[in-house]
Amino acid sequence: MKGLIASIVLFVPALMGFFAIEEEADFTLDTPLVDIMEMLGQPRPDHYQTKADSVKIEIGRQLVLDGRAKIPGGGRTRAISRFFICTDCHNQVKEDPNPANFDPEARLDYAIEHDLPFLQATTFWGISNRESWYNDDYYSKYGELVDVARNSLKESTQLCAMECSSGRELKDWELECILQYYRTLELTLADVKLSESELKELEIVIDDPSRHKEARDYIKQKYATYSPAHFVELPEPLIEGYKIDRPANPDRGEEIYNRSCKTCHTTKKCSQFILDDATVTFKKLVNNLDKHNYFNLYKITRKGTYAQPGHQQYMPFYSKERLSNAQLEDLRAFIEKGAIGF
Ligand code: HEC
Ligand code: HEC
Repeated sequence: MKGLIASIVLFVPALMGFFAIEEEADFTLDTPLVDIMEMLGQPRPDHYQTKADSVKIEIGRQLVLDGRAKIPGGGRTRAISRFFICTDCHNQVKEDPNPANFDPEARLDYAIEHDLPFLQATTFWGISNRESWYNDDYYSKYGELVDVARNSLKESTQLCAMECSSGRELKDWELECILQYYRTLELTLADVKLSESELKELEIVIDDPSRHKEARDYIKQKYATYSPAHFVELPEPLIEGYKIDRPANPDRGEEIYNRSCKTCHTTKKCSQFILDDATVTFKKLVNNLDKHNYFNLYKITRKGTYAQPGHQQYMPFYSKERLSNAQLEDLRAFIEKGAIGF
């Protein structure tokens, strides 16, 4: 009897070990998506060529979050920009409940639920999983600069440091550190939310190169391979605003005012123009609703301002994917309410 127990005790783990090896999949839910895509025959992009390095990641993180970094061994880098840091315009976490769908209404709900800013530019979460940058109408803003940036995460980071942030050129090693930092925000298999049966299927498909393309295309419907950006014309006449198919909601407008406009307009660092909840501030915006100047709500949000020599601070505008016409009407409704003292 003792002998039997002993042999079961020995045999069972051996059997389990055997099955564990037999059933071991090539991936878990934590596997980086870029590795899954590689298993499905897609070469690793340029910005994934170097090995992850914790010192570089930390420098990259400081450059993005603080605008400059401590250099190991002493000293600090120069600030990238005198006016902005990356986080003034870009979140660092997931911001769309469905990462394949850039619906600004859903993004605002998500921002309220998770207490996030609601900004003009796309989040860095998943940025290294995208395949093109500065998409669609950004060509009309930055022209040929976009030609180089569109197909390279490194070049778009450089473009944004110099143009969007009104800053300096990044050195090659600094760029490398930022690319390394982005990888800490990359998507994993869990983020594309495949069902149990899809995951089982994936195991089979990985071993069948004839189905690789089909599988890649399928997975790419589940996350953003690029962040769309379409610019919006001003309403005509301005004072009538955009025609929308639901009543404007001032409570939603208040969220936009607090989560977006106030990100930059509370300290005098980016702009001398302070946006607070004083009646006189709202009155100023309301009084300009029919005027073609920068205090006009439509003009400032849809056209922004441009950096000038000697006056490098500027306001980036909102594309359709970052602020819908209905949301702009919500903001207007909130401001109009504020102008009469709520
Ligand atoms: C004043 C606002 C602003 C600041 C500051 C800023 N950006 Fe941007 N950035 C933008 C806008 C607007 C875009 C346009 C594309 C988009 O993200 O929708 C953009 C795009 C990008 C893109 C391409 C994103 C894509 O998927 O198309 C990268 C990469 C980028 N920025 C990196 C940076 C880095 C790194 C910093 C800090 C050094 C920075 N940005 C600072 C506004 C800004
Ligand atoms: C990423 C930072 C940022 C965000 C977010 C932002 N602004 Fe601005 N805004 C600026 C900067 C910078 C200027 C230009 C200041 C200058 O030229 O001195 C500006 C200018 C303005 C002006 C014109 C003021 C002037 O002196 O010409 C108005 C009005 C304005 N913003 C309103 C808004 C509203 C409303 C929102 C929200 C929908 C908003 N801003 C969001 C940065 C921002």
